[in-house]
Amino acid sequence: MDSVGSTNTEAKSLFAQGETEGLIVIARTQTAGRGRKDRPWLSPIGGLYFSIVLSPRLGAENAPLLGLLGACAVARSLKALGIKNVGLKWPNDVLIGQSKIAGILSEAVFTGDETAGAVIGIGVNQNCPISDMPPGLQWPTTSVVDEIGKETSVEALLCSIVNEIDSFLQVVEHESSFASVLDEWRDASSTLGVRVRVYEDGKTTEGVAKDIDTDGTLIVETEEGLVNVLLGDVSHLKTEE
Ligand code: BTN
Repeated sequence: MDSVGSTNTEAKSLFAQGETEGLIVIARTQTAGRGRKDRPWLSPIGGLYFSIVLSPRLGAENAPLLGLLGACAVARSLKALGIKNVGLKWPNDVLIGQSKIAGILSEAVFTGDETAGAVIGIGVNQNCPISDMPPGLQWPTTSVVDEIGKETSVEALLCSIVNEIDSFLQVVEHESSFASVLDEWRDASSTLGVRVRVYEDGKTTEGVAKDIDTDGTLIVETEEGLVNVLLGDVSHLKTEE
């Protein structure tokens, strides 16, 4: 599509109308792109914005793990473009060093009957230089063009990420487990081993990010003991303060 509010919203609506796994909604720009916690996701022309429907293979309950899978797929594709220092910040951010280059919004979809699935939405700052972005972005940000110094094909990056998603899904299905996704996420993580501040349900906690659990929650060692973080926001303290 040339322009749409949000590819995730569009994909969810098409899913509710009977579309199934394999549907990809891609747009050159979004007028109401969404990030986690309903934050806006700036979507200027030049970026990659798409959403993929995953059902019936995987159900809604896997949405958090599919977000991690999406982040691993993006990391592989960015590395294949020759980008160095690709890291993953829990839950679904892709960083270069400490600057965000891509985000994943994985949403469970319910249709009111037995059918349920998930939509993985991926936004990559690709051919949109950060110098063209409005000032005052919420966090340090970078783009593919800033990292490698030239424009790259949006279609080729889309195909690469979708192929990586598909190969991860084949392993998940074959093993009936997300263990290998979790292992790859751990290897690429910028969060594990780092002192973090967690904002969840209006509460702030600090501790060291120890691991991710089998359900994709982040395990943080705090003064009160180990805490599993499901929906919180995480800041890396070691490098940010
Ligand atoms: C985040 O970092 O909070 C997640 C950002 C996800 C953005 C993508 S762009 C394509 C898809 N459509 C949306 O509205 N959001 C996701």
